[in-house]
Formats: sequence, C-alpha cells, structure tokens
Amino acid sequence: MMLTMTLISFTVASLLAITAVRCAPSNLPSYFKVCRRSDPNLEKCFKSSADELRPLLVKGIPELSIPSCEPLLIPEVVIDQGTGAVSLKSVYKDIKVYGPTQFVIKQVVVDFDKDRMKIKIFLPHLRVECKYVIDGRILMMPISGNGLSNANYSNIDATAIVRAERVKKDGDIYYNIKDFFVDFTIGHASIHLDDLFNGDEDLGAAMNSFLNENWKQVANEVKPVLEDNLAIIFKKFANKIFHKYPIKVLLPP
Ligand SMILES: *[C@@H]1O[C@H](CO)[C@@H](O)[C@H](O)[C@H]1NC(C)=O
Repeated sequence: MMLTMTLISFTVASLLAITAVRCAPSNLPSYFKVCRRSDPNLEKCFKSSADELRPLLVKGIPELSIPSCEPLLIPEVVIDQGTGAVSLKSVYKDIKVYGPTQFVIKQVVVDFDKDRMKIKIFLPHLRVECKYVIDGRILMMPISGNGLSNANYSNIDATAIVRAERVKKDGDIYYNIKDFFVDFTIGHASIHLDDLFNGDEDLGAAMNSFLNENWKQVANEVKPVLEDNLAIIFKKFANKIFHKYPIKVLLPP
C-alpha cells in the first residue's frame, strides 16, 4: 500500500516539475511553450501543457533527466516501520508502474507571493509489479514472504501542496522545494503477494484475502511513515529541474 502511495506522489512530483518546465522561454527544450505568470488562464495553460507532454513522458525526456514513465521504473523502496498496528520491514525491488501518465489534472493553484502551489490530480488506474521481501505484522497478523507481487489501484485522487524558497545563484534566482504535503484517496485496491509464508498456499491465500479486505485500514496506518518517503522522492525529482533553470525561465512574468 505504501508503495502505491509513493508512486502516486512520484506522479504528482513529475507533474509538478513538468508543468513548471512547460512555462519557459527559449533556453528550455523547444517543445516547451511558455505559460506566463500573468496569464489569466494559467490553469488552462498548465492543463494543455500536460496534455502535450504526455507522449513525451511516456518515452522520457533525457534533457531534463526525466526517465520513461510508462512504465515508471523504481529500483527500490524500503519501508521500515517499527510501531503501531502495522509494524514491519519490507523491501520492494524492480518496481514497474503502469498507468501514471494517464493522470488528469483537476486543479492547479499557484501563489507566487508565497511561493506555494497546489495541484489536484486524478489517476484512473495504476498497475504495479515488483519483487518484495516482507516480515512483520499487519493489523496484528504475522506476515512474512519473499517473491513477486502485483496490484491494481483505481480512481485515485491526489492533492499536493508544495512550498518553495528562493535561492540566489550566479546572479539568478532559483526555486528550492522545501517541503510538500500529499493527500490522497484510493477508490479501490486489489493486491496479490506470491509465495507468502515460504510458499504455503493456504496461509498465503488467507493473508491475501485479509489484505484485500483491510486495505483501507492498512493504508491509513502507514500514511505517516510514507510521507517521509514521499518528501525524499519528490524533492530529488523536482529540484533537479528547479535547480537547473532560474525562476525567470520556468515561470516568466
Ligand atoms: C491486475 O490487473 C491485471 C490486468 O487486468 C490482472 O492480470 C491481474 O490479475 C490484476 N491483479 C490483481 C492483484 O488484481
């Protein structure tokens, strides 16, 4: 579950970076057209930018260090959660996420005076495949296993609030993303972990049913831990672009 949330946030992060990049004049790659800060239809401009960029996102944009996002590949996510109803150590590797580029932008609000941005997106469907190693307890139930996992998540609503600070470098002013907050709801989740409990089929089937029946509660338990993970992934990704182009280039007046 936390993996999914990480991925959702990753999508939000790419979107943020990309909408920002879209608003740039000549010294950005030519396929980015400018949305001006003073544009009365800024939100509309962002939305159409995202639509234009969608096919590029599928392939990846090497100039901006944005990898192919369909599927989105994430080498590894480690979740080590010590206390509470969900206490476990888990490692997810070779994660493939199908569907992130189908995001729909619902709302974009930019407050230039406060250097804050709010984005609402909708993801119709995400399919996630990975290798997993898990050991611990979920809602009192012991869980352990090592194998392949696949999951489907649908109707995901996510809101991201981003706060930045201005940093001077070589006479230009750049944004540095300080922090962000992500909130999301998942409409439906369906999860399967192969080879739980050393391949014991009965125990594995019981645990998979249990996880699918209780996915909402599991999701809520891991949310706080997840937010730290999200912050790290998001900052790295977005700051790659914000540290590369000054504000006057990314968001001209
Ligand atoms: C997820 O969807 C795929 C394709 O529709 C399906 O093959 C797979 O069994 C589904 N997995 C789960 C855990 O629901």
